[in-house]
Amino acid sequence: MPPFALPRNSRVVDGKIWEGSNQAERTKRFKIYRWNPDRGGNPQLDTFTIDLDACGPMVLDALIKIKNEIDTTLTFRRSCREGICGSCAMNIDGANHLACIWPIADIRGDVIIYPLNHMRVIKDLVVDLEPLYAQYCLIKPWLRAETPSPPDRERRQSIEERAKIDGYWECILCFCCTGACPSWWWTGERYLGPAVLLQAYRWIADSRDEATEERLDDLHDPFRLYRCHTIMNCTRTCPKGLNPGKAIALIKKTILERRT
Ligand code: SF4
Ligand code: SF4
Ligand code: FES
Repeated sequence: MPPFALPRNSRVVDGKIWEGSNQAERTKRFKIYRWNPDRGGNPQLDTFTIDLDACGPMVLDALIKIKNEIDTTLTFRRSCREGICGSCAMNIDGANHLACIWPIADIRGDVIIYPLNHMRVIKDLVVDLEPLYAQYCLIKPWLRAETPSPPDRERRQSIEERAKIDGYWECILCFCCTGACPSWWWTGERYLGPAVLLQAYRWIADSRDEATEERLDDLHDPFRLYRCHTIMNCTRTCPKGLNPGKAIALIKKTILERRT
């Protein structure tokens, strides 16, 4: 027996504590990808049965419940719990989502959870985002302007200029879209992928930025930009309802217009 009290409806199986479902009226099974670098071996799916009447409504609530009450070694990222920080991105029920805003009730049958696709797993649901942030750095994601800002006020935009970055500034860099992009899977070492390219367009479209030509030159490359084949998995996946596929098309269009 473990040296602490077991939660209600729990039992020990093969040295692990599982929450049982015998007395709960509404239950759901969660099958979760597990891999521990300290143990090595092959990854596996662990199954946890959760009493939905004793759990919050979102997939993240279930993960936190499992971690708090059943298996403290379950590892995943989360922070804001309201779709703002992008930390809890993972593959749920076959598509990439933010676990904190994805309702358990929307999933039929078992809830099957994997890490984001095609990224190196550090442990369980935590993937290595360093290569993606290295790509993000390449686009210099900050305002670049030689003209000094006015001494007495911020750099202003008209309402129309400001509207041009709507649909882009809202990106929370969760990388759900990049994880869903087949082109990035196969050429991700050189192709920047939808999240980074949407961020690139966010600065190209910003009327205050003065480095547009340089930004376009940096992207005008057979791999960095043109590996996008308009498959649109990115747009279908984005949990914030953004359209990275459109942003990429607009970068290509801007290059074409300025170069002809
Ligand atoms: S539209 Fe481009 S970026 Fe989006 S999934 Fe397809 S290939 Fe990837
Ligand atoms: S475009 Fe959407 S899916 Fe992609 S990183 Fe931004 S918020 Fe996430
Ligand atoms: S915990 Fe921040 S987006 Fe889910």
